[in-house]
Amino acid sequence: MKVITKSKMKVFSALLLSVGIGTSFLSGQESGSMQKIIVDGIEFLDLNKNGKLDKYEDTRLPESKRIDDLMSRLTLNEKIDLVMGTGMKGFEGLIKDMVVGGTEYLVPGAAGTTFPLEKYGIPAVVMTDGPAGVRISPTRKNTNKTFYATGFPVGIALASTWNSPLVQSVGEAMGNEVLEYGSDIQLAPAINIMRNPLCGRNYEYYSEDPLISGKIAASMINGIQKNGSGVSLKHYAANNSEKNRMELNVHVSQRSLREIYLRGFEIAVKESNPATIMSSYNKINGVYTSADYDLLTTILRNEWGFKGLVMTDWLGGYSKGLEALKGNASEHYTSQQLKAGNDLLMPGIALQKQDILNDLKSGTLKEKDLNVCVKRILEMVFASQKMKNYQFSNNPDLKAHASIARLAATEAMVLLENKQQALPITSSSNKLAVFGSYSYNFVAGGTGSGDVNKAYVVSLTDGLLNAGFKIDSDLSAIYKSFVNQEVLKIKEKLKADPMNLVPLIPQPQVDIATIRKSALQNDLAILTIGRSSGEMDDRKIQDDFYLTKDEIGLIDNVSREFHSLNKKVIVVINVGGPVDIASWSNKVDGILQAWLPGQEGGNAVADVLTGKVSPSGKLTITFPIKYEDVSTARNFQGFPADNPTDVVYEEGVYVGYRYFNTFNVKPAYEFGYGLSYTQFEYSNLKINNSDFTKEVSVSIDIKNIGKTSGKEAAQLYLSAPAGKIDKPVKELKAFAKTKLLLPGETQTLTMVINPKDLASFYTDKSSWIADKGTYKIEVGASALDSRQTTTFNLEKDIVVEKVNNVMNPKEKITELKPR
Ligand code: BGC
Repeated sequence: MKVITKSKMKVFSALLLSVGIGTSFLSGQESGSMQKIIVDGIEFLDLNKNGKLDKYEDTRLPESKRIDDLMSRLTLNEKIDLVMGTGMKGFEGLIKDMVVGGTEYLVPGAAGTTFPLEKYGIPAVVMTDGPAGVRISPTRKNTNKTFYATGFPVGIALASTWNSPLVQSVGEAMGNEVLEYGSDIQLAPAINIMRNPLCGRNYEYYSEDPLISGKIAASMINGIQKNGSGVSLKHYAANNSEKNRMELNVHVSQRSLREIYLRGFEIAVKESNPATIMSSYNKINGVYTSADYDLLTTILRNEWGFKGLVMTDWLGGYSKGLEALKGNASEHYTSQQLKAGNDLLMPGIALQKQDILNDLKSGTLKEKDLNVCVKRILEMVFASQKMKNYQFSNNPDLKAHASIARLAATEAMVLLENKQQALPITSSSNKLAVFGSYSYNFVAGGTGSGDVNKAYVVSLTDGLLNAGFKIDSDLSAIYKSFVNQEVLKIKEKLKADPMNLVPLIPQPQVDIATIRKSALQNDLAILTIGRSSGEMDDRKIQDDFYLTKDEIGLIDNVSREFHSLNKKVIVVINVGGPVDIASWSNKVDGILQAWLPGQEGGNAVADVLTGKVSPSGKLTITFPIKYEDVSTARNFQGFPADNPTDVVYEEGVYVGYRYFNTFNVKPAYEFGYGLSYTQFEYSNLKINNSDFTKEVSVSIDIKNIGKTSGKEAAQLYLSAPAGKIDKPVKELKAFAKTKLLLPGETQTLTMVINPKDLASFYTDKSSWIADKGTYKIEVGASALDSRQTTTFNLEKDIVVEKVNNVMNPKEKITELKPR
């Protein structure tokens, strides 16, 4: 039932008044008093003031009829308004003539809204970032009430759980905050492939592998959308580096696109039906993704059956980035975007309205093209909670959600090293010496739109104190005063230039005598290495991927002093991606990859260190021995180096473990790797049917053969026969995680593979083809730890799917091939 109350209409009016560029966008709008009417016992707002209900207002009719009716009433001006969303207040100075919307009146701090049409009772649908939680302002004018949202673990952490139901429960909790804080669309999840360990936004993404990206995304989307809220799956596609992201032209083969960069989106679209998709900033093969018909219509809609709407990334589709948006855009693609199937321009700017008017006049754009976009926007608006007038509480159950955040963070942690069972910490080791600046300023999430305004962050030291440990107070005092000062300096720097990335917090000088004393007085040393990263730039090789001289010096000194007294050293890595570990791992006893674990981070680390929970996270990105070992080390950001405009994906499909395995490059820690406090035995691998033209189930028994309870993430890799094109030696095709298995307990896991999983993309035939020959299935604990194998034969080639021959590079790319 739709009832639009008078107070709600006041909100619309306020919103319209707040529209920055004002009156030209409001022409034709009516104001004045509205009345309610009752029809069949249902209350309606009488927008016509004549006692008659128009079809589009009649909630008894199917939505499609109502939308058709409304479409027939909209003026051209109103249609143009609708395709131009509104944006965040605060950016008006930066971007000339941006349509500044009602976020300050509706949900302060939200990223934007759709354009409301008051005359018809069409509300502004609110959109909030991001993948780790609902990004809104924590405080508001005229109230003491706070509006904090839960800071969940970041994307890479969530995927490292390999636990789809758990990620779905995170999605349900996050979606509940979307709903209860009055937002409609959560701008998440983000699933760009981690093509290189240094991408600034890897922390938000899920993996270097499209299958786990797509499956985990589907769980997240299903969780969020269960609340009746929508998502925007982003950034579609190939936005794999941050430097110069609004200008970068990605040159990539159709095969690599389909097998690597689009595949995760395809899985997520087919398995979860996201309400919206966000196109990315970059170009692919010369065309902005937001203006690429083949990407947004031929593939996304015609091939995959996507029914929702596509929106641009914020101001996406401008060749000269933000500078141009100050008013001098040399190229703009407004009509091309709309015709390509990018329905909503987020947020709209005045020059786009002018583009549309000009192009309608010249005939380059037809009203029917506009209608397609308008209809999709109205479908999204009609399906929204706002349209249903959901009375949100502004009071989600943050306590309950914090528990879910802690559970997920705990399960995300990957135990990389555990020499002589250094972990879990035994109950007799109660006194801890805690080193490293980041132990005292634990990083919960990344920067930029993926950041969440959370009520608190449990630091590592707080987590350890909560778990009952005693922490060396002399050391704490040194670190706390140093870190507080450094954080203040950083805040000042960011105040001066908010677009700056958060710099690294340095290490204080802790002399040998102090370390020696702490080794004498404590049972164990814990040392944290931290990093922050975010939008607009990528991480660096030196003093970022590789540790700084001071960090290495600290590891050296602490290890030497503690080991000389037979005491252990544990390193916690508080980073949203890989760092170099191989060059120093032999110096310490235990290494825990804690990622950016969200607001409950310190508690979650303590849960693992104490053994309350046995670690069960596994890597979704390869950790190389040296940065140069990565297949994209030389061509990551493209060229020219200082301001890249072009990048060529010469590595083809050999990204991440596909490269390391096929080219026999030894990683530090491989894809899928992670230790536990217990051990698991794999047995009884079975394929339940041998008709590979249909879905096939593969089952495996996993037994806990150790002494503590634990969970295991089993991975199914497939090796396909050579055929006429080169292929990675193996690829992940399915995964499943056990429940908590008690010592001695066994669980049978079942994983499903379908014909497309056998197939590679043959560009010359525009087809996914499963080549005849012998296929090997391996089920194991990582990409290098195969436990059980079986083979099967395909008698003849199967053309699994014929698709369109589109999105080819303009020039031939010489791709890497195994010899
Ligand atoms: C980011 C998106 C985000 C949008 C709105 C852009 O800069 O790339 O991920 O959703 O801003 O905040």
